Amino acid sequence: YDPKTPQYLTSDETSFASVSARDRWPVILTGAIDDLHRTVGDVPTTETEKRAEGKTIIEELAKLKYELQHNRQLTPLLEDGEPDIAEYNEELEKRGNPTWYNVPWLYSECYLYRRLATLFNRSKYWKGYDVFSRQKMSTFKSSRPAVLELAGRYRALALEAEKESKEGLSGEQIEEAEQLIFAEMCEICLWGNATDLSLLTSLTYEDIQKLQGSEARKASEKNILVNDMKAAYDVLRDARKTKKAGEERRVDIVLDNAGFELFVDLILAGYLLSSGLATTVVLRPKVVPWFVSDVIPKDFADLLNALAIPQAFYTAADESDSDCKHPPLSDEELKNIDFLFSQWSTFHAEGKLVLRPHRFWTAAGSYWRLPKTASDLHEDLQASELVLFKGDLNYRKLTSDAAWDPTTTFTEAIGPLGPKSGVRILSFRTCKADVVVGLQPGEDERLRQLPGGGGDSGARKWAWSGKWAVVSFCDGKK
Ligand code: F6P
Ligand code: MG
Repeated sequence: YDPKTPQYLTSDETSFASVSARDRWPVILTGAIDDLHRTVGDVPTTETEKRAEGKTIIEELAKLKYELQHNRQLTPLLEDGEPDIAEYNEELEKRGNPTWYNVPWLYSECYLYRRLATLFNRSKYWKGYDVFSRQKMSTFKSSRPAVLELAGRYRALALEAEKESKEGLSGEQIEEAEQLIFAEMCEICLWGNATDLSLLTSLTYEDIQKLQGSEARKASEKNILVNDMKAAYDVLRDARKTKKAGEERRVDIVLDNAGFELFVDLILAGYLLSSGLATTVVLRPKVVPWFVSDVIPKDFADLLNALAIPQAFYTAADESDSDCKHPPLSDEELKNIDFLFSQWSTFHAEGKLVLRPHRFWTAAGSYWRLPKTASDLHEDLQASELVLFKGDLNYRKLTSDAAWDPTTTFTEAIGPLGPKSGVRILSFRTCKADVVVGLQPGEDERLRQLPGGGGDSGARKWAWSGKWAVVSFCDGKK
């Protein structure tokens, strides 16, 4: 149940796999070591056992980094009481215990984060510790301008919507307006993915802020290479028309990154619920810290807690630079944030906005395996009107991170999740890896010829930076 098309390997010198394994992962591991070092340093000296255990984990992290940089074999994961370890190890053996620089990219990158998790799961004092949490929160804090702008825009739209229905527009006009707003919400949600933290190794905070504003979004519309948003809208609109009142119409969001991206996902979720395009939204986080910035349940709570006290959160001095002062939020800005916060908390309290984690999302295999290895989850997703997959990694997993010809259809590239799978998929992805499908003939060649696109080097460099995006739909209920 994997495709015949081969997967990208860390040994492919022209791929982002190779750059990731050699240049990016060591930086990520160094960041993890620094974070834990800091936390251990803050543990009171009286807690000797906890400090000692923390130091042992730091050594283990350093060892992992050494093995990676010296191209050693991936060693079997140590038991940590979770059922997926056996699966990881069986696959490792089947793949012939490969070395770091010659192994499928997708498997090895998942292994890397799963191995990190074992270090904490196996400990006595550090269970559940997230080495990326600090970074996730501080980046969210630096998204302040975009968060405030979006909160304002969202509230204005909500107030406008109330006014419009009072003025009694025709059904058609309302639908047209709704479709435009749906597209805007989807675009906000899409570009929120441009700024994940695993790529932060190459972006400054200024770059991030530039990527997040509304002007950037308008300017980036032409960078959406495949855009199936309309098909997804039609599905939700038709379900609203045809399903009985009171019947559930669910949208699932397979989350990607915490912080700003989770914020925009909640914007979309709040919009779907308040517009009646969905009656329930199920958010699907990971169960262990993943690919640096992916959402775990605690990140959801952290985000809501921050927005519950926005003035304190956004004006507190920076941990790294206590001289840097942030101006207070205006009354209007506070009102806008409060509007979002109340709406989300109400939906959450009413059970319309729920979190549902599953271990499948942190397995090493692609989503081609879903029907076979996680039939419970497959069935659950079949009950949804539409499943949104956020981000690059989800796209890589949907397409099995295989070296498809870029004109292959999305439907073909997702294999068992295609037609008749019972799952309707919309994948929102800014391109940060080599795999891409659904392009028009000649498009890949054109993009390669742009500055920084890779030219004749054999590398699809245009697809590595998050500048281009694809929004791909497949109706698995047909
Ligand atoms: O390409 C860089 C990378 O870290 C990939 O390894 C991974 O697929 C992706 O970014 C993570 O991005 P996202 O958060 O959008 O899934
Ligand atoms: Mg991510």
